[in-house]
Amino acid sequence: MNVTEALKTRISCRAFLDRPVPEATVRAILDGAKWSPSGGNLQPWHVHVVTGARLAEFLALIAEKQKTTPFGEGSEYDIYPKDLKEPYKSRRFKCGEDMYATLGIAREDKAGRLMQFARNFRAFDAPVALFFAIDRQMGIDQWADLGMFTQSVMLMAREHGLHTCAQEAWAIWPKTIAEFLNMPPELMLFCGMGLGFMDETAPINRLRTDRAPMEEWASFSGF
Ligand SMILES: Cc1cc2nc3c(=O)[nH]c(=O)nc-3n(C[C@H](O)[C@H](O)[C@H](O)COP(=O)(O)O)c2cc1C
Repeated sequence: MNVTEALKTRISCRAFLDRPVPEATVRAILDGAKWSPSGGNLQPWHVHVVTGARLAEFLALIAEKQKTTPFGEGSEYDIYPKDLKEPYKSRRFKCGEDMYATLGIAREDKAGRLMQFARNFRAFDAPVALFFAIDRQMGIDQWADLGMFTQSVMLMAREHGLHTCAQEAWAIWPKTIAEFLNMPPELMLFCGMGLGFMDETAPINRLRTDRAPMEEWASFSGF
């Protein structure tokens, strides 16, 4: 698989097969992703990988907490800017609408939308969940490095025939996640990620998002 293929076949997978991923594969994915660049080669990423009975235990804990605290503990960072402006606002709206449309969930079906959103907290039934964190000392530059690393993990997963879904939704459970994973207090959670084999038959996995044409976000001079 070349880079273009990995980039174009990486989609956010929101339904996984009940098929385990060998530890060696997860290790190979992370071992490849570690070659991501970072300013000053700080390599500011930290990853916690959870699977099997331990993941089941974690998801059960979250499910229990959700009964009394459906919106979590509150994210430690703003997942989106307040008053998101155009064109970003419309892109976000379209992304949600297109996703619910694959499932036939109408706009007014708030319960249906909430139930689908709640599937985030089962990691979309992925057999492996990864949690990405960064030292609180780090700034914008290192967060960008962490983003590049996260993308590398997703591309490496494609090379191994696996799919992923990056999940910022997990950011609403920072305390529970930190406690469960024994994360040192200096680490701050960025996002989670489901990893596994894609359920090709699941309607939600038919979603293909689009991208704005290059003219909208690139400029060229001097050619
Ligand atoms: C950092 C990050 C966090 C994301 N968080 C979520 C999430 O919590 N739940 C979800 O369903 N999708 C999440 N996504 C997926 C995006 O919605 C998705 O990448 C975008 O709509 C483009 O679609 P594609 O990934 O299929 O190309 C996240 C993506 C990124 C990069």
